[in-house]
Amino acid sequence: MVETLLTNLPGTRDILPEEISSWHLVERTARSIFARYGFEEIRTPLLEATDLFARGIGGETDIVGKQMYTFQDQSGRSVSLRPEATASAVRSYLQHSMYRGAGLTKLYYLGPMFRHEKKQKGRWRQFYQIGAEALGSEHPAIEAEVIEMMMHFLESLEVQSHLLINSVGDGRCRPEYIELLRRELRRRGAELCEDCRRRTETNPLRVFDCKVETCQPVINALPKIADHLCAECSQHFEQVRNYLQEAGISYEIVPRLVRGLDYYVRTAFEIVSGELGAQNALVGGGRYDGLAEILGGPRVPGFGFAMGLDRLIMILPEEVRRRAKRPPELFLAYLGDGAFRKALALGRLLRHKGFSCHFEFAGGSLKSQLREANRLRAGSVLIIGEEELARGRYILKRMEDSSQSEVSLEGLVEHLRERRRAGLK
Ligand code: HAM
Repeated sequence: MVETLLTNLPGTRDILPEEISSWHLVERTARSIFARYGFEEIRTPLLEATDLFARGIGGETDIVGKQMYTFQDQSGRSVSLRPEATASAVRSYLQHSMYRGAGLTKLYYLGPMFRHEKKQKGRWRQFYQIGAEALGSEHPAIEAEVIEMMMHFLESLEVQSHLLINSVGDGRCRPEYIELLRRELRRRGAELCEDCRRRTETNPLRVFDCKVETCQPVINALPKIADHLCAECSQHFEQVRNYLQEAGISYEIVPRLVRGLDYYVRTAFEIVSGELGAQNALVGGGRYDGLAEILGGPRVPGFGFAMGLDRLIMILPEEVRRRAKRPPELFLAYLGDGAFRKALALGRLLRHKGFSCHFEFAGGSLKSQLREANRLRAGSVLIIGEEELARGRYILKRMEDSSQSEVSLEGLVEHLRERRRAGLK
């Protein structure tokens, strides 16, 4: 009994203080870079009506069909923990009539998503995404701009990545392609798994999500959507590629990339990283011009992406992780009760001046306090003994070279400011 209480649920985890600095860095960087592109944060509930996702993402998708945390609440309503946030962002955009007045609305979000998936490295049941949605423009340049923003973000974190793109057509050309797919799938129905046989009738595009090995030869031989685009979709795709090229962004066209959510039209893309292993998708996104209408609103074109934060943190370079850490700027070491009181008073004063200070309440020998300062990787240590207390001057030790000097309070503040200016901790 006790064992189960002391263990988190499978597929969930605690993000511990030792790791949190990397998360903060990633979040700070996203906020700073996304703001430069005009994106503003939106926070939507973790819990929404089940129908929002069933209609928005598609009932035949793995996400809705197999992975949602769905239950009836006390009022008998079917609710689900959000498996993604695009449907929620569009719901909120429509609910608050954000389309009135604004030509283009740029939203970003950051937070946990829930999918009951099979556990695997890089795959969690509660995972975190940073996503961005640009609503109100059909222009292909907005797609290149959103992708550019994300590349800018990844580059500033020194993360290597590879962009894969495709066009999945639209309401004009896709129905014909889907019929072609259905005919082909029916012809080879005997070689397909039960799920794929069902998808053949309900939603043939979802066959591309199948992981069953025996289905793969059939899937690999299916006609490619790229060969069946209408003139408008082809032209749109070409323009997107041109804008990407102009922005200096390299990409690979992957004709089988259809993505696991039903709302995509035209451009679909993923960013993968070789360092991630089997679950190599770091970012997924695309255009979803019909989603607002599916949810009962007016037609609003949209384009966006979501990035898996858990996966991003996994491949964050060691140097970036180290830089993200913010150890205390000053450790106050004291010898004797009078010095302890002085340390408390100095700590109070310095914290109000904006510096981070730590001390060890257990006191102990100077040696043990210095050991603690080392463990915390404090930038400097101030040593306060009875003698220093009487003179109002203290011993300042710089931890990187162990050099020592005597300082007054003003000298100490100047020293801490100087280190900040020099970018030292
Ligand atoms: P998605 O491809 O389902 O797209 O998820 C985006 C990213 O979230 C994935 O590339 C991956 O990094 C991360 N992710 C997904 N599932 C898990 C999991 N179980 N564990 C860890 N990470 C995971 C969407 O969610 C769309 N809403 C993206 C979008 C926004 N399209 C347009 N706008």
